[in-house]
Amino acid sequence: MKLLHDLDDKVAAVTGAGSGIGRALALRLAQDGCRLALADVDADGLAETERLLAGRARAVTTAVVDVADEAAVLAWADAVVADHGRVNLIVNNAGVALSGTVASLSTDDYRWIMGVNFWGVVHGTKAFLPHLERSGAGHVVNISSVFGLTAQPLMSGYNASKYAVRGFTESLRQDLELTGSCVSATCVHPGGIKTNIARSARVHPSVANATGKPSDAAARELEKSFLTSPAKAADVIVDAVRKDKRRVLVGPDARVFDAMARLTPAGYQRLVTGVVRSRGGK
Ligand SMILES: NC(=O)c1ccc[n+]([C@@H]2O[C@H](COP(=O)([O-])OP(=O)(O)OC[C@H]3O[C@@H](n4cnc5c(N)ncnc54)[C@H](O)[C@@H]3O)[C@@H](O)[C@H]2O)c1
Repeated sequence: MKLLHDLDDKVAAVTGAGSGIGRALALRLAQDGCRLALADVDADGLAETERLLAGRARAVTTAVVDVADEAAVLAWADAVVADHGRVNLIVNNAGVALSGTVASLSTDDYRWIMGVNFWGVVHGTKAFLPHLERSGAGHVVNISSVFGLTAQPLMSGYNASKYAVRGFTESLRQDLELTGSCVSATCVHPGGIKTNIARSARVHPSVANATGKPSDAAARELEKSFLTSPAKAADVIVDAVRKDKRRVLVGPDARVFDAMARLTPAGYQRLVTGVVRSRGGK
């Protein structure tokens, strides 16, 4: 297996590059000499990332892509290779959050979050894999979460999607080893990262207000527990690619969640429910 120790002059594709971890990754990969292909469903966010990259990257292309749309992701992967000649790295980072009890959420809510968080990762992996194979040294990075390691009340949709990303990516990595591929794969489990994710979450009215969005106060409260900057997360992710890690935890809180899951795989649930109740969750 050829590894991506050196990212200089490699072509990196990143989804969800219009904000947060995706934007920080774009900036970090540019610093390492990558040519960038960036996608997001949010054209304004993407344009802002492109503006921040001005004069800092060898080459940048952008595309408005909804990762839940398989045909759009396939077309984007082909366009990346047409524009850049090859692609070495895909980071399936685009993601959304959803909050509400199982009783209150609709099956459409679950379809929505699985469409972006799980199917988006499957679409990105499947669309780019043949191109990565042809590059001679490729890597797939899929962003799960600490909520792919441990569950939380009110987060069943997000938990299901991030556990699915973890299972998919761990098996992908084993497939690639089994078949002697020149492509490798890393599953990333961030703890709380200071991004827009809490503010853009869909929240069921029964656990918030009628707007379907978290109130400012609720978002601020949640954000207090976010310990790690997007830039630091990007550094950890790039280091994991270079070292070809299977699994990477991002942030000190991620280590706590991981330890909880190992030490008390069932008992942690009561502990977490207590913490959420003490913060005013239902
Ligand atoms: N911030 C955290 O605390 C945290 C923790 C663990 C995991 N994560 C994961 O990290 C990833 C990045 O999230 P972030 O924290 O940077 O959030 P963010 O909201 O700042 O950025 C997410 C980006 O994804 C884009 N996006 C959303 N739906 C999309 C779609 N259908 N197609 C294309 N792009 C889409 C958004 O427009 C946005 O630019 C997500 O997968 C998230 O679940 C975040």
